[in-house]
Amino acid sequence: MEPKTSQLPHKPVEDETPLYNQEFLDFLSGLPKERVIEKFESYQYQGFWYNPPLLHGIFNMQKHFQPCENDIFLVTAPKSGTTWLKAMIYALMNRKAYPPQSPHHPLLNNTPHQLVPFLEFINPSKYGSVCNSPDRTTRILATHCPLISLPKSITDDASPCKIVYLCRDVKDNFVSLFHFAQKNQWHISLEDSFELYCKGFSGAGPVWDQISGYWKESLDRPHKVLFMRYEEMQNEPQFQLKRLAHFLGKPISEEDEKSGVVDQIINLCSFDTQSRLKVNNTGDLVCGLSNSSFFRKGVVGDWKNRLTIDMASKLDQITEEKFHAFGLSI
Ligand code: A3P
Repeated sequence: MEPKTSQLPHKPVEDETPLYNQEFLDFLSGLPKERVIEKFESYQYQGFWYNPPLLHGIFNMQKHFQPCENDIFLVTAPKSGTTWLKAMIYALMNRKAYPPQSPHHPLLNNTPHQLVPFLEFINPSKYGSVCNSPDRTTRILATHCPLISLPKSITDDASPCKIVYLCRDVKDNFVSLFHFAQKNQWHISLEDSFELYCKGFSGAGPVWDQISGYWKESLDRPHKVLFMRYEEMQNEPQFQLKRLAHFLGKPISEEDEKSGVVDQIINLCSFDTQSRLKVNNTGDLVCGLSNSSFFRKGVVGDWKNRLTIDMASKLDQITEEKFHAFGLSI
């Protein structure tokens, strides 16, 4: 019988925002900054805009993080479906130890963020204690870090760890971000949010530059970077899950096929299942964001209910301009 969640051989790592030290404050003071909303200023680093907590995580990561051989990095722009893919990768990699149809599956009692932490919100002293597989072979870590700022020890070809990048139609991404800001009481209008988003203030934005960085890398080094899309995960979940399993070196076997494990993982990680769980509807992450704010509608094309025609055209136009040269369309 598989272990119950309370007996997980690996402990979920709680996110934690470490206090800023003088070194980080000195680093911040040398960066271009803009006050984008009342709550915090944004700082520009290596071409991308961050709020201080996120940048602090990247600063720490660049200084202290050491990857392990089998590490998996899930990279996204905020509000691209990170929570969903965290659940999918966790369920996929641990499918033998935790059968996805089990009533004791860890994803029924822990949020995907507890099981797969954000690197940015882990205290560097705890990097080594992240472990999200019972046999301790794999670490799955999420980050919003653009490619240019990921430590070389992760991106190097010499390092066998893998990067999965998930992108989303920027129109839905923006709408999701706007609702998230509302839910977490950032007190900002749709129009102001839109202007900021287009200028690149979206959490490790400009989102277009982040996406194109990983897109190019996935073409150059397909063994290293897998480029996924939220819309494709919605439209062809079986195919995308198998693609992911293959890339991560845990392909779906004939035996897996027969056991129905693919559909079981998809159901376990689906918006319907996850958004109804008590654990995902109560409490906050330590960084202060409510767990429930990571689940809203989970559909493709919701932008049609929120954006004006002008806003949608402007986002399409920027997307076209930024991606045309790379043969990328989203
Ligand atoms: P919407 O606001 O459009 O509903 P992130 O996890 O990167 O913060 O992204 C959050 C977005 O992903 C939200 O989009 C949320 O509803 C959606 N989401 C969360 N869990 C999901 C799931 N299991 N399946 C599909 N979408 C999901």
